[in-house]
Amino acid sequence: MKKRIVVFTGAGVSADSGISTFRDADGLWANYRIEDVCTPEALRNNREQVIEFYNMRRKESLTKRPNAGHLAIAAMEEWTDVCVVTQNVDNLHEQAGSSRVLHLHGELMKLRSERNPELIYDINEGWEQDIDARGEDGALLRPHIVFFGEDVPMFDTACRIVAAADILIVVGTSLAVYPAATLVYYVRDRQVPIYLVDPGNPDTAMIRNPLTHIKERGAVGVPQLLKQLKDELAE
Ligand code: OAD
Repeated sequence: MKKRIVVFTGAGVSADSGISTFRDADGLWANYRIEDVCTPEALRNNREQVIEFYNMRRKESLTKRPNAGHLAIAAMEEWTDVCVVTQNVDNLHEQAGSSRVLHLHGELMKLRSERNPELIYDINEGWEQDIDARGEDGALLRPHIVFFGEDVPMFDTACRIVAAADILIVVGTSLAVYPAATLVYYVRDRQVPIYLVDPGNPDTAMIRNPLTHIKERGAVGVPQLLKQLKDELAE
């Protein structure tokens, strides 16, 4: 039977596509204050700045393409049972061809009603959210992004996905944001191997499972690791 592999990604998997991470020295949070652009209070009190921030992220993302890391993850579907859980709001996993992608922190190319979280709209053209755009319920639309201080509605589903993994691969995340970072504890048991591809030093102190840290950038380390796993699983 095919092994079930779960790939849990953060901003680092898209860094080699030219999208900024958040907490690296040149990351987004070095240039913006989270409380100005990524909280429900900011949306309430500083709507223009929040919409503008996500308009810029969306505009930038339209010029980006998947890198070798995204592509290798998508190609896993040819040889194993794989599910991607991403903290990223870009759609580079989907562009690369991954068919099972769960977005924990929302999606840049979607807007939703401020009143009804189920009323979600795809942005099919361009990058700009009109500040006065409203949904069919009459409420203002907002970026379909999980702000700091908000619930993470997909978290329970993500936990179930991770709990079904035979192997967990973590790519490009500082493991600094909760509850997302705790996903690594939801593996089925202590035997499930965890692989981490990240050139930096994510917070792995609490991981008790066998952990292999590949200190490489995603576009190099992910294809390498996946080739190795594919060969091992074929034996
Ligand atoms: P961070 O910016 O916190 O962490 C990025 C990680 O990527 C670090 O561990 C880097 O070492 C690593 N990295 C940098 N360059 C890389 C490369 N070329 N290849 C692979 N890895 C690389 O980003 P996240 O952990 O994703 O949430 O941040 C989690 C959440 O915090 C985000 O989803 C976002 C943010 O605030 C919201 O906006 C709600």
